[in-house]
Amino acid sequence: MSRLVVSDLHASYGRLRALHGVSFTVDAGKVTALLGPNGAGKTTVLRALCGSISTSGTVEFDGSVLTRRSPSAMARLGVAHVPEGRGTFADFTVLENLRLGGYCRDRLDEDIEQQFTWFPRLRERSRQLAGSLSGGEQQMLAIARALMLRPKVLLLDEPSQGLAPTITAAVYEILRSIQDSLGTTMLVVEQNAKVALRFADEAFVLETGRVVLSGPAAEVAGDVSVQRSYLGT
Ligand SMILES: Nc1ncnc2c1ncn2[C@@H]1O[C@H](COP(=O)(O)OP(=O)(O)OP(=O)(O)O)[C@@H](O)[C@H]1O
Ligand SMILES: [Mg+2]
Repeated sequence: MSRLVVSDLHASYGRLRALHGVSFTVDAGKVTALLGPNGAGKTTVLRALCGSISTSGTVEFDGSVLTRRSPSAMARLGVAHVPEGRGTFADFTVLENLRLGGYCRDRLDEDIEQQFTWFPRLRERSRQLAGSLSGGEQQMLAIARALMLRPKVLLLDEPSQGLAPTITAAVYEILRSIQDSLGTTMLVVEQNAKVALRFADEAFVLETGRVVLSGPAAEVAGDVSVQRSYLGT
């Protein structure tokens, strides 16, 4: 079943056209990877889905066309966004960031405990200011904060950015266990195609605002141009 069906998305920043009719689907309970070079429009696609920029084209969520896609409407539907650069509140502690992430939830303590089970490092750092966490810890906090919404869809913008390979592997391992236990639908933007294609079920490639390839992750990984451009083989 498709959780998101995105058709003919166009987006611009002033006179610069960033997306030129992008269409793709994201299956419920699956991981979809979005790959592509710098400036291809990957972040713009996520911004469109979380309602932070206006676009033309249609987005269907669980079979209903969404006419208004404001950030609050998308959050209410259960679309959580872990932005590029992470977006945690630097001057708040780990615990305060998690509380803010779940502000509209009851059973807050239970949900925070769940995050600490997935991210034991955050329990150890719960009273530390987010701004003083390491890059990997900040990424974990950003993901944990998004999960506090109990999202139906998790949009992740380059979770591996700036992280050492071992930390990237640790973050993806946690994402894998979250996906296995909750079945959260995920759309992951990654420059690190190797990591993303190993993690994902489906994938698509964006170049200069257009989808140039899509399919099962294993097939995309086997594509000669993907191997040459993104996998270094
Ligand atoms: N806020 C903005 N104002 C003006 N132009 C923007 C803005 N954000 C993005 N762009 C432009 O839109 C295009 C797509 O950018 P986007 O950030 O979506 O690319 P990306 O695929 O996420 O790239 P990267 O891999 O570098 O993160 C680029 O040409 C970029 O310069
Ligand atoms: Mg980006």
